[in-house]
Amino acid sequence: MYPWHEISPENDSTLAMIHEFVKRGHGLAITTPANLTIRDSVAFAFSRVMKRKDKISNNLKSFHTKAEFYDEMLPLAGFDVIILRSNPPLDMIMLNFLDSVKDDVFIMNDLDGIRRANNKLYTAVFEDENNEIIPRTHVTKNKEYLKSVIKDGPDKMILKPLNGFGGSGVILLEKRAMKSINSLLDFYIDNADGTSNYVILQEYIEGADQGDVRVLILNGKPIGAMRRVPGEEDHRSNVSAGGRVEKHSLTKQEKELCRRIGPKLVKDGLYFVGIDIINGMLVEVNVMSPGGITYMNTVYKTKVQEKVIDFVEDKVLEMVNAFERRKKLRKHVDEA
Ligand SMILES: Nc1ncnc2c1ncn2[C@@H]1O[C@H](COP(=O)(O)OP(=O)(O)O)[C@@H](O)[C@H]1O
Ligand SMILES: [Mg+2]
Repeated sequence: MYPWHEISPENDSTLAMIHEFVKRGHGLAITTPANLTIRDSVAFAFSRVMKRKDKISNNLKSFHTKAEFYDEMLPLAGFDVIILRSNPPLDMIMLNFLDSVKDDVFIMNDLDGIRRANNKLYTAVFEDENNEIIPRTHVTKNKEYLKSVIKDGPDKMILKPLNGFGGSGVILLEKRAMKSINSLLDFYIDNADGTSNYVILQEYIEGADQGDVRVLILNGKPIGAMRRVPGEEDHRSNVSAGGRVEKHSLTKQEKELCRRIGPKLVKDGLYFVGIDIINGMLVEVNVMSPGGITYMNTVYKTKVQEKVIDFVEDKVLEMVNAFERRKKLRKHVDEA
């Protein structure tokens, strides 16, 4: 995950999950990608182990401030579960470290699933020929192609980086303001060092000014939803871009969308994700460090993290039982 001091305790979903683990009496250590290390073919992490306390504050802010850690180099395969909570862009080498322990530890989300779904291409290639749930989307580096799509396209379109998060770089293009398009495309696509970026050009979904819906999906099923309404001065609904949070009950169409994508998410090992829906259309699947838990907790007076940790405990138990069973059967064979 990101470093402890970078957490804003009031609205950090990772902290809410950590708090729930610790409250249940589990031991816990945190680390950042830069702290992964191989020693004699074994993957370790320079970790910060949280000191156990008799009394754990119910308030996330004081839990965050009062937490104490000691440093220890620990083997990854010794943990029951590893939860990945780093923000994009994805560090591919970090995943290779974790690959070496994926048969020993329950990792959420699954590493191959994250590889597949860590950017917005995951939804762009979702099978939906008639654009029933995915807005018409183009992903490319080809500027001439982008310009021709904009020229022949609708009045409003959305341009965004393939790898962004938190609403950063998401802009609304309007046909009557096309004078800056060359400069914009140069800025989004070309880097100073000669490398280049893919961009997404997407149909503007009507109704986006009313906000979007964030749904947290656990093991293929929705466990919480909220509406994010953009502030007066922005077209984006992200809370980090000034959006406000309200209660939201899923509409029939949104439930249907969840039913359509749920099985694929589970198949890809994407057990805990946050999806963004605008007007019944799927805009994004957040698989790296989905957020929203604390906001949902506030508007619904609930603790969404309890469901997440229940699920993790079940998964770990399943894995431990399978190990035990195999050990017993193996003994039987050995003694034959
Ligand atoms: N196709 C679109 N039509 C209308 N609004 C959009 C569209 N795509 C993105 N937005 C607005 O921008 C916000 C951020 O876009 P999103 O694709 O979720 O990227 P990020 O990863 O930065 O959150 C959305 O929540 C929405 O308010
Ligand atoms: Mg989003």
